[in-house]
Amino acid sequence: MMQGLEGVVAARTRLSHVDGEAGRLTLAGYAAEELAPHAGFEEVAYLFLHGRLPEPAERTAFARELTGRRTLPRAAIEVLREAAAVNAPPMDALRMAVPILSLGRAENPLDDAIAAIAAFPAVVGAYWRFRHGESPVPIRCDLPHAAHYLHQLSGAEPSPERSRALETYLNTICDHGLNASTFAARVIISTQSDVLSAITGAVGALKGPLHGGAPGPALQMVVEIGSPERAETVIRAKLDRGERLMGFGHRIYKVRDPRADILAQAAEQFFSSGVDRRFYDLARSVEATALRLLRARKPDRRLDTNVEFYTALLLHGLGLPPELFTPTFAVGRVLGWSAHCLEQLREGRLIRPQSTYIGPMELHYDRAPVRFDRSDSTGVCVSRRS
Ligand code: ACO
Repeated sequence: MMQGLEGVVAARTRLSHVDGEAGRLTLAGYAAEELAPHAGFEEVAYLFLHGRLPEPAERTAFARELTGRRTLPRAAIEVLREAAAVNAPPMDALRMAVPILSLGRAENPLDDAIAAIAAFPAVVGAYWRFRHGESPVPIRCDLPHAAHYLHQLSGAEPSPERSRALETYLNTICDHGLNASTFAARVIISTQSDVLSAITGAVGALKGPLHGGAPGPALQMVVEIGSPERAETVIRAKLDRGERLMGFGHRIYKVRDPRADILAQAAEQFFSSGVDRRFYDLARSVEATALRLLRARKPDRRLDTNVEFYTALLLHGLGLPPELFTPTFAVGRVLGWSAHCLEQLREGRLIRPQSTYIGPMELHYDRAPVRFDRSDSTGVCVSRRS
């Protein structure tokens, strides 16, 4: 038995193909590097949900459908306000808000998928603003998806360069084979449950630090280094202590993670658009030093830059704090989760693997029957909030 299902094929999909040996990512038939930096998020969403790119009229109709679903139910706003009042982590707030999107609506897989994709930017944006003592900004229907997300966070209309950089990021990370959160979504929907339940489970899976949690620490390392001349000393010391360099290495990619290249180009473009590029230059020199030292330490194992290093660089450049890195990832990945749910409903079978039992056998229960009595209770029911 393979621990963690490594190497086990558990689904057939037309959505994305990860070729770890060649370092290639294919998104619904298109090379990620061709699609992600040029397509609009709405086009990619249509491609994933309908299996082909939209014609111009279809694209317009679909974009309208998405913008028409941006407004959150009042109950979701209230939950986000309450979550902010107790300083809940943003991923917890997102996980609390998603199920409420089903309130008052009849279950419909495609409709539920579109509702979730459309609502995620407003959920994260509204929560973030509550957390900072501000009110959510009114929904704007005249902005494309990526720009709308940045607007929901800051209340300011982003420049075309900022929107493009984020759009490239969302497209790049919208799907990646059978990663843990996508698998979680497929398991839930395989019972013929509903799409919003599956997406809620996927948000819970994504929250764990082993799944997409590296960009924060990667950013932290660059901040800690602070200036290019310190890179060698700090990185050497980390490696001497046996620490792993965050943002380097990958379980599946045996060569460079192709998403790192896409985001590196997006970052280069963004930081060349007149914004302060000192941090970008620092990060590039940290990367070069890290790669040189990793190659010297592990000559027989290629440890290259992964997607998280450039995620950190790009999202930091866009002004997003590390706390928003994983929720922003969810704003893009909800598309993959949704499309996998629709695919699983269409073509899949109940996912029900087996386990190897390693516990004791043939124990015998020979105690006298026990009844619940007052001594089992505190005798007081406590309400946590008045
Ligand atoms: N820095 C330093 N050394 C490393 C790194 C790293 N980033 N990655 C692997 N190594 C070393 C290991 O210490 C190990 O050395 P050893 O053989 O002397 O014990 C060797 O390379 C092989 O390591 P494995 O654990 O077998 O590598 P694996 O492929 O299982 O791990 C992983 C992949 C978890 C991503 C690893 O490279 C890592 O921890 N990287 C840093 C965290 C990170 O960036 N995570 C994000 C990955 S991208 C994503 O999840 C979307």
